[in-house]
Amino acid sequence: MSTTEKWVQEFEALCSQVPASFASGTEDEQIRIRALRVAEKTVHQLHTPMTFAEAQTWAPLELFGAGVACEMGIFDILAQQRPGSSLSTADIAKALHADPALVARILRLLDAHHMVDQVSLGQYAANAITTDYTQPYRKGNVMTQIGLMPSYFALPAWLRANDYKVLPDASHCGWQVGANTAETFWESMAKDPRLSKYFNDYMAVPRTTQEEDFVSFYDFDTAFADSNADDIIFVDIGGGLGHQAKRIRAAFPPSRGRVILQDLPQVTCKIPVGSLPDIEIMDHDMADPQPIQNARIYYLRGVIHNHADHVAAKFLSRFAAAMGPQSRLLIHEALATDMNPGKDVTRFDLSMLASVGGAQRSVAEQTALLEGVGLEVVGNWSTPREWSIMEARLKGI
Ligand SMILES: C[S@@+](CC[C@H](N)C(=O)[O-])C[C@H]1O[C@@H](n2cnc3c(N)ncnc32)[C@H](O)[C@@H]1O
Repeated sequence: MSTTEKWVQEFEALCSQVPASFASGTEDEQIRIRALRVAEKTVHQLHTPMTFAEAQTWAPLELFGAGVACEMGIFDILAQQRPGSSLSTADIAKALHADPALVARILRLLDAHHMVDQVSLGQYAANAITTDYTQPYRKGNVMTQIGLMPSYFALPAWLRANDYKVLPDASHCGWQVGANTAETFWESMAKDPRLSKYFNDYMAVPRTTQEEDFVSFYDFDTAFADSNADDIIFVDIGGGLGHQAKRIRAAFPPSRGRVILQDLPQVTCKIPVGSLPDIEIMDHDMADPQPIQNARIYYLRGVIHNHADHVAAKFLSRFAAAMGPQSRLLIHEALATDMNPGKDVTRFDLSMLASVGGAQRSVAEQTALLEGVGLEVVGNWSTPREWSIMEARLKGI
């Protein structure tokens, strides 16, 4: 046996332990991410330039196949089966009133990309990915990416036309070119109920396996020390449908203070009545002066990255003007590391540039932005998968 053949056998043996070693999917996420990074690097080393290019240049089709399957209901019908049971292509086509030949082609793609399992010839069963892809937030995730595609495919042409010197913002980015519109992505989305729903559903997606533990990544207890029912303890700015505000409310009862959710009216009007008990919902545009003064925490998750530096600086200066000595501004974002940045964060960055003229920043870039509006960064708490909570306070407090 050649040395390489022996190595492959050992590699296979090691890899076969992965399902048992990471069975629940909720083990220490840092360890799992570390293992994933090693595996990705190994896959890269095993590629030739030709197989690398083939994988990369055809990758978008995997997403479009998933999108078709989400909208057809293929994931739903498979996930509804009893554990251990499967369905034939014909069963699935019949239940969905769809063309069997089309269903067979989509299932073949889903199987090849691990989104369903073909358990015997023409018989398919759900796996963990199938089940996940039945969640509204995952369908929203898939369909939002597809909805953003016009800005991505316009990126090369837009940058070329601008001689690779751009000061992007939401009105000057790939979206206008790709969607053939003068509107921002936000304006176009507000007129498109299907895309709006997908986007808002997507915002509820867990950003980390321990998403529910968001409250434990930062010392909210200290920030809310000695608070009473009249204090405003948490303002979730650009809070979407309110999942983060809800987590704070669950951890800190109304006796600890008021929790306020702010967003644009086109988003707040989509919040189901009664879905956010003991949370005050307020229409607010970040471009306007912040009406809530001296809150303990002004919190923004995945909001600042949607905006170019000059726009984000304007919003941040509004928050700084409202902050008092006890106030803290928390920016919860995925930040790029200077060395070995992860794939996800660099993809987010290009997505922000193309679709809304925003940026997924590094620690230094975000710090500079905050310092530029008279704030001082006093800490940065890392959460898994490159997300972190950066705290800023008024300078000299
Ligand atoms: C990427 S979403 C993040 C939502 C939520 N914070 C989360 O983490 O799920 C960005 C949010 O910012 C809101 N937003 C965008 N521009 C805004 C503005 N000028 N004023 C207030 N909110 C705004 C959007 O409506 C959207 O809900």
